[in-house]
Amino acid sequence: MSELRCTYPTSRLRRLREHRLLAESIRETDLRPEHMMLPLFVVEGQGIRRPISSLDGVDHLSVDRLDEVVAPAIEAGIHRFLLFGLPDAKDPWGSSASDDEGPVQRAVAHLAKRYGTSILIATDVCLCQYTDHGHCGLLRDDGSIDNDSSLRRLEETAISHARAGAHMVAPSAMMDGQVGAIRQALDQTRFSNVAIMGYSAKFHSAFYGPFREAAHSAPGHGDRSSYQMTPSNGREALREAFQDEAEGADILMVKPSLLYMDVIARLRGDTLLPIAAYMVSGEYMMLCHAARAGALDSHRSMTEAHLALRRAGADLIITYGAVDVARWLRS
Ligand code: PBG
Repeated sequence: MSELRCTYPTSRLRRLREHRLLAESIRETDLRPEHMMLPLFVVEGQGIRRPISSLDGVDHLSVDRLDEVVAPAIEAGIHRFLLFGLPDAKDPWGSSASDDEGPVQRAVAHLAKRYGTSILIATDVCLCQYTDHGHCGLLRDDGSIDNDSSLRRLEETAISHARAGAHMVAPSAMMDGQVGAIRQALDQTRFSNVAIMGYSAKFHSAFYGPFREAAHSAPGHGDRSSYQMTPSNGREALREAFQDEAEGADILMVKPSLLYMDVIARLRGDTLLPIAAYMVSGEYMMLCHAARAGALDSHRSMTEAHLALRRAGADLIITYGAVDVARWLRS
């Protein structure tokens, strides 16, 4: 008769983990500043640094004041940035998106010149901040999205970002074939080493609310359900991600992140590409509001949320909390 064993390996390990050296060698997941990328919102004009009321700790910045945020971020260990632009001029075609003198293009040129390759500059490629109707693509007369003419505008926009010095472009319009079209356009110009981070599994989410105020990009009529993924369909989102991979994406993104960890984890098992998770404005603000209300400890809850995304399989986390979390990790 075999004896019942009463020391369970898990409890032995739990006790052994009190020894710091063992704890460190068996830690499965780590979160470091290198894992985080900070979004920046660049506006036209001069001398502007205006807090965004819907997003704690995030400002609208004109190019001449970008360094006030970028330099301390670098100091904290954050060297990766994702740029969004807020142009003064909007029209039905989002013409200002590909303006070489637009806020994103000028910001990229400034950062590339000032910091060189000590930082990674990525840009959001979408039309919603630039169209007067606020949709991510161009509209036909009947109000539906014209996918293929939108692709041409996205290509022009990506090329103008690359020309300014962007290392990576991140198409977020969710137009069919956008990664392939941009890849081809970059390769045909002289930008074959500019990488593409696809917003591959981007869901039609209520958690983008605070961002739309930050980017002035709410659609004037209708919503984005015809081109963003429905929250009920995880498998369909994975198929979209594989499609982006086939079209030449270098990094696949899942967005939102905390609510879609199942998608991150499944994608991790099914692709060999790096995965980015975007902790979107509503997810970030949910934690900020809860901390302000005294329900959560802000440092611990924010850090745990980011660590959890790493555990789910994210290599890179795009997050408004990047600088705070980096500082907390160090202290
Ligand atoms: C642009 C874009 C959006 C976000 C990132 N890129 C808005 C949207 O799709 O409606 C949302 C980011 C956030 O909520 O933090 N298409």
